Order: sequence, then structure tokens, then C-alpha cells
Amino acid sequence: MGKEKIILTGDRPTGRLHIGHYVGSLRRRVELQNSGLFDKTFIFIADAQALTDNMDNPEKVRQNVIEVALDYLACGLDPTKSTIFIQSQIPELCELSFYYMNLVTVSRLQRNPTVKTEIQMRNFETSIPVGFFTYPISQAADITAFKATTVPVGEDQEPMIEQAREIVRRFNHIYGETLVEPEILLPDNAACLRLPGTDGKAKMSKSLGNCIYLSDTADEVTKKIKSMYTDPNHLRVDDPGQIEGNTVFTYLDAFCRPEHFERYLPDYPNLAELKAHYQRGGLGDMKVKKFLTAIMQEELEPIRNRRKEFEKDIPAIYEMLKKGCDVARAQAANTLDEVRRAMKINYFDDAELIAEQSKKFKGE
Ligand code: TRP
Repeated sequence: MGKEKIILTGDRPTGRLHIGHYVGSLRRRVELQNSGLFDKTFIFIADAQALTDNMDNPEKVRQNVIEVALDYLACGLDPTKSTIFIQSQIPELCELSFYYMNLVTVSRLQRNPTVKTEIQMRNFETSIPVGFFTYPISQAADITAFKATTVPVGEDQEPMIEQAREIVRRFNHIYGETLVEPEILLPDNAACLRLPGTDGKAKMSKSLGNCIYLSDTADEVTKKIKSMYTDPNHLRVDDPGQIEGNTVFTYLDAFCRPEHFERYLPDYPNLAELKAHYQRGGLGDMKVKKFLTAIMQEELEPIRNRRKEFEKDIPAIYEMLKKGCDVARAQAANTLDEVRRAMKINYFDDAELIAEQSKKFKGE
């Protein structure tokens, strides 16, 4: 029997999810969930990881668990097809992390590029919390506890997956083949790898106020696109415009499909022609923004409506999460059991060990 194909991924609950999350991973997860190509799908809310840099603000994390769960359901993650759960409710992950810590050096963690950038971004330089510093190890526990083969995430998570793979190889080398090496699954479209904020800045982030949220109202979305960063030198309609670094076109790269032209902009056959016209001059920003707005509303409206429905029964969402935690916990416990056996710390069900020790002390 070939090994099972298992998807696992998650998000930190530090805010509502935005369209960067959506094109970076969420949209893909839903497709994978529905593709029938995978034996299991695990999606989780990484509250324990969120606490590694929000230790003084647990309320923020607590409030956002449900927001993320609602965003998941709104996007089409389906608890009858995917196990949706909360990280902190799976204590087995802590135990796995504890053993994996012995397989990773401090200098290896210091070289993790994502950790490095995050330390700078948070001004942690001289006071890095140990839990934060070691979160790549805990993330390896998240992944391996569920024997994930496929981890759909954004580009910034690449060093995390690489570190998890190293831990798996080291564990298997020392203790025998036990853990499964995961593969990263990145978005196949360059614009989706790192969707810029509406201000054109490299990354969408709540603190920069440059996000379009999945739960934004139609008006909010329209307003945000209207004030979106374009080419600052494209002053008159007739001026030639730049596509590179032009947020409106980057978003079109991420969201536009051929049928959108028939529906909303039949004068153009495709995106390449639209871009060419903009570059030649004679195409105004407002026209392109209107087109993008129509596309975004079409994509976001069903998500927004589904969210509204789910918001009507919040206790049911917690109940769904609780069930997900039960399923996830059983799976993680199973893996932990195998890990303990491999490490031979399963003293009480190791008859061979007990017999051997008893012989030794009898002097046989
Ligand atoms: N680090 C991820 C993020 O910030 C969240 C995460 C935690 C995760 N554990 C994971 C993603 C395991 C994939 C697999 O978005």
C-alpha cells in the first residue's frame, strides 16, 4: 500500500483572514479538499503559535479563533471533508516538540530566514521569547503529528517546511523510519505568492491598514480598490502606464479569469491586451479599477454571504471545532505512540525490556 496522502495547514488567529491568505493558500485548500485526491485534510487554527508573539495579549488570540473558523467555513472548508481544529487543544503536539527540540541546534534556528525577519519586525533582538524562537520546532510537530504529506502555505513558510523535513530525516535516521517528510505546496501563480497590500507595500498586514478582508462589506471593498496604489507617474489617461509594481494589475493577475472579460469588459479579449493598452497609454486607472472591483465582488460576495449564515449559530461552530479537536487528537496520539516506541520510551508495554532487565539483575 502506498502511503496516505494527507493535507495539513493552518493559520495564526491574530485577525480576520484577508485576500492575501485567500490567494496564498485558502482558495487552494478548498480545491484540494474537494479534489478527492487526498485521504485526509487537517486544517487548524494555530492559537498556541500565535501566543508565541502575543503572550501579553491572549485576548486578541482568543477573540480571533472564531473569526478564522468563520472565514474557513465561508471559503468552503467543509467539516464533513476536512478536520478543522484548534492547535492548543492537542497536547500531544507539546510532547512531540519536546523530543524534536533535541534534534535541532540553536544555530540552525538562528539561520531560519523567516524567524530572522520576524525577530527584526517585532524588535525582539535582545529579548526573544524562547517559545517564539523555537516555533519552527513546534510547527514540525504540527505537521508530523498528522503525517502530512502536503502542506499548502505561502512562500514565507518555506523555511518552516524545510526545517520540518530536516527534523523528520534526523528523527528517522536515529530512531528508525517513523515520521513522514512533508512537501510544501506553493501557489502556482506568482501574483498569489505574495499579494501586496492595497498601498503597494510588499505585504498585507493589519498594522499597515492595507488589507482587504474576506469579511469586508461590498462598500469597503469598492472603497479600498478605488484608493488602491497604481503607477504614480500615470497622471493622465493618455500617458503610458507601468504594469510592474502596479497593485491593480497584480490583483488582476491573482484574480482575473478569461470569462471575466466577457462579463465585465468585453472590449478586451484578455488580460494581456488590457495590459498592453495601459502600457501604450489611453487607458485610465478608474476603468481598470472598476473591472477589478467587479471581479473581486463576484469572488467575495458568496464568501461574505456564507459567513453571514454561519454567524447565526456560533455555538454550532465551537461544537464543530470541538469534534475536529477530538478527531485530530486521536490521530496525534497515534503518532506520538509510534514516536515513543521508536525512541524506546514506552517502558511499560516493552516486555522485552522488562525481561532483559530482570535477567541482568539476576546475573543471568
Ligand atoms: N506559521 C503558519 C503561519 O503563520 C501557521 C502554522 C502553524 C502552520 N503551524 C503550521 C502552517 C503547520 C502549516 C503547517 O501562517
